Amino acid sequence: MSATRDGGPLRVAVLASGTGTNLQAILDSLHGRGAAEVVAVASDVPDAKALKRAREAGVTTGVFERSAYADRENRDLAMAEWLESAGVELVVLAGYMQLLSGSFIGRFEGRIINVHPALLPAFPGLDAIGQAVAHGVRYTGVTVHFVDEGVDTGPILLQRPVELEYARPVTEIEQDIHAIEHELLPRAIELIAAGAVSFDPDNPRLVRIEGGS
Ligand code: GRF
Repeated sequence: MSATRDGGPLRVAVLASGTGTNLQAILDSLHGRGAAEVVAVASDVPDAKALKRAREAGVTTGVFERSAYADRENRDLAMAEWLESAGVELVVLAGYMQLLSGSFIGRFEGRIINVHPALLPAFPGLDAIGQAVAHGVRYTGVTVHFVDEGVDTGPILLQRPVELEYARPVTEIEQDIHAIEHELLPRAIELIAAGAVSFDPDNPRLVRIEGGS
């Protein structure tokens, strides 16, 4: 990402495996409003609700099932070519439950973001909300980060905390976290589209946001 982006709307692809409420938030708050355009939605799950949401918004969809390819590398190669042919500039992982190959990440280096339901680096991986509750932390939250080859290890773009009161029902915590995700992920895309996001040249782990977040 650079602070000097100009031109038309940022061409965004969303990868999702599940219900796609984050995709819906992006479609509702950003899509077709000038700054960003969702030009493709891909999934590894043929009947993912996210694909239905995309079709209802008139967005092109693609299915890249792991079982349809010899290996992950080939699946990701096909997906990368499909995304590039759509002129995608930013890839957004929104509940995408597959690990991406190193070559896919290299091809879209610094142009893939993910939303994670915890304050990274705490509780990476699966069931981050359950991990936080079981650990008894007082605060968890939401992180939007750039994707590197590790699991939820890339440079952090945005974070917001949620307080965990003692014995609060997990369903309520999930609702709070999802509501924050639905604000933070579109906000991250908006900042990138505005050219406000760059990496510190001396330490690319540090993400600079012009004008603050
Ligand atoms: C979100 O909680 C996100 O943080 C995680 O997967 C979930 C996706 O939810 N990576 P949805 O499919 O967007 O509703």
